[in-house]
Amino acid sequence: MFELSDDDRIVLVHGRESTYAMGTTDDERWVSLFWGGRIQRDDVCAPDTVAHRALIGDDDEEFPGWEGPRYREPALKVAFPDGVRDVRLRHRGHRIREDDVLEVVLTDEAYGVTARLTYRMHEQWDLLERAVVLENHGPAALTIEQAFTGAWRVPWQPAYRLTHLAGRWGEETRRQRQDVPLGKIVLESRRGHTGHEHAPWIALDDGQATESQGEVRYAALAWSGSWKFVVEREAPGHLQCVVGVQDFDLAYHLAPGERWALPAFVLGYSRAGFGQASRQLHAYQLAEVLPARFARVVRPVVYNSWYATLFDVTEDNQRGLADRAAALGVELFVVDDGWFGRRDDDHAGLGDWWVNPAKFPRGLGPLIDHVRNLGMEFGLWVEPEMVNPDSDLYRAHPEWVYHFPGRPRTEIRQQLVLNLARPDVEEFVVMMLDDLLSGNDIRFLKWDMNRSWSEPSWPDAPDGRAREVWIRHVEALYRILATTRQRHPDVLIESCAGGGGRVDLGILRYTDQAWTSDNTFAQDRLTIQEGFSYAYAPKVQVAWVTDNEGGRLAPLAYRFHVAMQGTLGVGGNLLAWSDADLAEARAWVALYKEIRPLIQHGRLYRLLSPSEAGDAAVWYTSSDGHEGVALAYRTSAPPWAAPIRLRLPGLRDGRYVVHHQDGMTETRSAEGLAAAGVIIPLAGDFVSAVLRVTRAS
Ligand code: GLA
Repeated sequence: MFELSDDDRIVLVHGRESTYAMGTTDDERWVSLFWGGRIQRDDVCAPDTVAHRALIGDDDEEFPGWEGPRYREPALKVAFPDGVRDVRLRHRGHRIREDDVLEVVLTDEAYGVTARLTYRMHEQWDLLERAVVLENHGPAALTIEQAFTGAWRVPWQPAYRLTHLAGRWGEETRRQRQDVPLGKIVLESRRGHTGHEHAPWIALDDGQATESQGEVRYAALAWSGSWKFVVEREAPGHLQCVVGVQDFDLAYHLAPGERWALPAFVLGYSRAGFGQASRQLHAYQLAEVLPARFARVVRPVVYNSWYATLFDVTEDNQRGLADRAAALGVELFVVDDGWFGRRDDDHAGLGDWWVNPAKFPRGLGPLIDHVRNLGMEFGLWVEPEMVNPDSDLYRAHPEWVYHFPGRPRTEIRQQLVLNLARPDVEEFVVMMLDDLLSGNDIRFLKWDMNRSWSEPSWPDAPDGRAREVWIRHVEALYRILATTRQRHPDVLIESCAGGGGRVDLGILRYTDQAWTSDNTFAQDRLTIQEGFSYAYAPKVQVAWVTDNEGGRLAPLAYRFHVAMQGTLGVGGNLLAWSDADLAEARAWVALYKEIRPLIQHGRLYRLLSPSEAGDAAVWYTSSDGHEGVALAYRTSAPPWAAPIRLRLPGLRDGRYVVHHQDGMTETRSAEGLAAAGVIIPLAGDFVSAVLRVTRAS
């Protein structure tokens, strides 16, 4: 895994098919030497050799401080109280710890600033986790103005292409591709949360990689606040990226003896295209990121009443919906917004987490009992970081929100953001959740966050720490989630932020799944979900079958087939569904339960891209390669259109039975399925198919 040069100056970190190499220069800098396919010690250009400097320049540091003639984006920028703004981090040692982590210590001796870099390679997925802890060992406080978790490079290539995921509310995670020109590309959020606009994930290739071929390098950041990626192509053949917390408006005060753990990021390498890159990242999330309690447990089929009843929830209408949901085979019934405070619409009530007595005169207990008697678990929507000015909480604590004194407090959706950096607010949220979960048999929370920040200030902050809210809010959020999980380990938690506004490797350490988008129109979902799948595992992705598609309702089968790509839910008004629809839905839920282990714990192959082909198809195999299921979609095709042909890779050698949707079966070899594929005749508008492949006995 680790290989050291004889003089200990070069460290190679090997994955199964990749190597990441670093070393110290004569002037004690810790520099990148290589990242790519697996190489040996002799293959690495030693730092300070002419070849090395000629190839990659002389300042390719892993964690560059801003000093001297540095014009590329640094990782660290510091202002010292004496006016000095120059930080000279020099290598003071490295060691391989017992837990198989490489730890590198860089120090600016004059000011006592230390950066402790860690590298952990997950060999089976060729995925390197990097993190940094900053420490102030000096006598004086310092101000950190920029702190990315690290820099990294892509070795020389004739061209570089960037793939990223962009969008906005209702159009999240649309895959974007562009050649990287000379200059800088910045992807970021300044919103206080991850954001709908960009996912903190990128991939780089030479412009030639496909789903199944070519080298792909990718990076993803584990942070749920404002963040930034800078891709900087300075000269032909040189590309540097930095990644970490957003530097805009940052001023982090590090007093003597204090430390700051910067969020981790991962670097992944695939030599078999984007498909393998995603599968590595998915497997890593299941094994290492998602909370262990439910990581290997299949996600329940959810019913959520939001689109059916909006804010007009009552014990009565929820009972009626629960009866119908249970009859469909739903396993988790969730009451969304509107159950608390004076919450009749989005103008009031956020912050008042008491059960609305007009809607639930007997409290939530009788509804929860009803749901449980129907064989389902009960779940609830909360938005703990927010407050409506029209609430008891705000009237009691107007100082609890982010604001500048004497300036307007901008409302979005009539709400303001609670300042979680304040210990009393953090404590309030912990207690509120504890009371709610202790007093009711609740097994699921949908944790929402419906607005980005504005006026991000904390006027009463101690020691000029007002600008640390960017960091402290997110750290408090993680602590609250961790405490809540520890006190209530059987509660599954979903991350939501007005749709998919908070999905990242940071929040996924504390939440089990994520609401992908408020846009539930099946056709739009195909592209949103395609993008999502580049960065996040299928079981993280929640999709509901609704009847709220803005007049563009696709057939029920199509809607189910789209929602089945991850964790399936139903969100339509079941009281208005016909008996025929309910019977059909019941059958799809039953089928989903059979194939869900493949979808949630298997390997995903994107076969046809809805952003490229018009038709779309995905294929999941079990991790032992003995079984698979394909989902195929066609928006519109005349009866004489050519059928869809799907090549199905990834099965173990042997004979397989292909089960077509119409009941027809055919027996084929694994090689035949991969090379020649199967033909699926699909004609009409919004037509789709599920194709199961099982091992022939
Ligand atoms: C956000 C969520 C929706 C719903 C509403 C409730 O928009 O994304 O699913 O929960 O809030 O107000």
